[in-house]
Amino acid sequence: MTDSHARRLAEEALTKLDLRQRVAQMTQVEKNSTTPEEVRREGYGSVLSGGGGSPTPNTSEAWRDMVDAFVEASTKSRSGIPIVYGVDAVHGHNNMVGATIFPHNIGLGAAGDEDLARRIARATARETSATGIRWTFAPALSIPLDVRWGRSYESYGQDPDLVARLAVATVQGFQGDDLSRPDALLACVKHFVADGAIRYGSSRRVDRDALDQAADDAALANAGSHEAFLERVARGAWMLDQGDAEGSEALLNEVFLPPYQATLDAGVLNVMASYSSWNGIRMHAHGDLLTHLLKDTWQFPGFIVSDWEAIDQLSDDPAQAVALAINAGVDMSMVPYDGVRFIDTLVELVRSGVVPEARIDDAVRRILYTKARLGLLSEPAQVQRPNVDVVGSPEHRALAREAAARTPVLLENRGDLLPLRGTSGPLLVAGVAAHDVGLACGGWTITWMGEEGDITPGSTMVDGLREHHDVRYEPAGQGEARAEVGIVVLAEEPYAEGMGDRYDLNLSEEHLALVRRVRERVDRLVVVLYSGRPLVLGPVADLADAIVAAWLPGSEAAGVADVLLGHVPFQAKLRFVWPASSEGLPVHPFEGADGVVRKSDGRAAYLPGHGLTPSA
Ligand code: GLC
Repeated sequence: MTDSHARRLAEEALTKLDLRQRVAQMTQVEKNSTTPEEVRREGYGSVLSGGGGSPTPNTSEAWRDMVDAFVEASTKSRSGIPIVYGVDAVHGHNNMVGATIFPHNIGLGAAGDEDLARRIARATARETSATGIRWTFAPALSIPLDVRWGRSYESYGQDPDLVARLAVATVQGFQGDDLSRPDALLACVKHFVADGAIRYGSSRRVDRDALDQAADDAALANAGSHEAFLERVARGAWMLDQGDAEGSEALLNEVFLPPYQATLDAGVLNVMASYSSWNGIRMHAHGDLLTHLLKDTWQFPGFIVSDWEAIDQLSDDPAQAVALAINAGVDMSMVPYDGVRFIDTLVELVRSGVVPEARIDDAVRRILYTKARLGLLSEPAQVQRPNVDVVGSPEHRALAREAAARTPVLLENRGDLLPLRGTSGPLLVAGVAAHDVGLACGGWTITWMGEEGDITPGSTMVDGLREHHDVRYEPAGQGEARAEVGIVVLAEEPYAEGMGDRYDLNLSEEHLALVRRVRERVDRLVVVLYSGRPLVLGPVADLADAIVAAWLPGSEAAGVADVLLGHVPFQAKLRFVWPASSEGLPVHPFEGADGVVRKSDGRAAYLPGHGLTPSA
């Protein structure tokens, strides 16, 4: 599909649409809030699954049948224009049971390997497109300044050049050589812009003086019970996410914008606006950055999608909120609950002159151009989409295991304990996460926040160790017998977005007690962290002989055993400033914002670039 052909198809389609049909193309609804019949009747532009938006049963066949039903219905709408179905495939087709779950971006950043990132994105594209989905809301280009933010693990690191390189590789993997192929995914770079620069305490997503009202908030209800929500708020949930970011023009131009320029140059056609604000202006209403910079100056040819319900946050008056966002440059609204109301509102805004019809035409032209590039406006490609038996294939699981082995960073290694060689006796392994797929995957896995347990097929670190060693696995380190070597895995509980914001980064008392219990019983001790961000080591720094940051290794965490045993060499590097304590946060390497740390001072335990590389 050439650019000129796509433009021609888009123009031809646009001229056939009346105002309501054009506005319908700007409308994206979530799958539980609509039906194929409504999609046919209204002619929506897109349907999405939010985090955990799976069919029942949660199988690849059911996903494929659900998506095909929506797409088929859309082709029967008055316009006949197919929807494009979107999903957060951020570390594999991660809402779907049985999909290969790759390490989260924080681990891929530590590995720093573009080819690995590209291969993972290509495998993800094949598993996702096998279910009829052609759009992923990934990669995130986030650069967190304060890792108390619950989205830190979606970032490759505090290094704009690294983020740009890995994001470009990921976009190339998703989109392939020809975006019109049925196994190509439309990539989405997010959240534009400076989503990670939010200031601690600036989030207004949750009113801490009226927490009971949150029980009625459909998005927050995704946290499970209201009690579970209150428990997370008590630890700092929603202190940062969707808050206010501020910084110098230099910081914007040298840190946050370059990865977007790089991915636009690499042919990305979709950008998601950030919930956050930049220097006092909400990004969804930021005409200077959304339109004058992205579209006019950079000549971005694709379309901007809003985030989930983000437009509603712009004003208490729904019509004013829509007008602010669309006039600022948002092209498609992730409404996501009431598509008809959004269409009615925007049609009325155009009729009353508040939103120029030319703005609607620009938005729809961009959406249709992108759909044409995806091959959705022309005859189906001769190439068939992948069969669902590609999902969780041995080849993809081997790739995920390779990635899980190449993402851990070796922080400390006293007495060259690692890699474990010639250790004869049984290994004492403690910590639930050592043998738990859910904790190894983290957030955005099967459900929005992820959860502990056998949530999807996979392999664990214990499985990997047992391929070569006698392993005594004690989830709570509750035994008595001594061992030459002990390995304790400490994991954060899974979280997503603002649910993962925290007041501090300290390891828990339970974590410390477990390490102390095992320390008493072994000659040498390895501590492995499964976390979405750097954590304050505290006493663990002295109790352990070796310390490994394994991040969130995914469904094939047997790969962590591969690097501990020396089958794969430690090569990964830190891409974040690692805080020495929870006092004096944030810490990051950038001039132009509070918290810059450029050398080893009391605030940083380790700096970006740290990572020991013992001979395998
Ligand atoms: C969420 C996230 C965004 C995601 C979208 C759809 O709120 O902010 O990253 O792509 O909604 O799930």
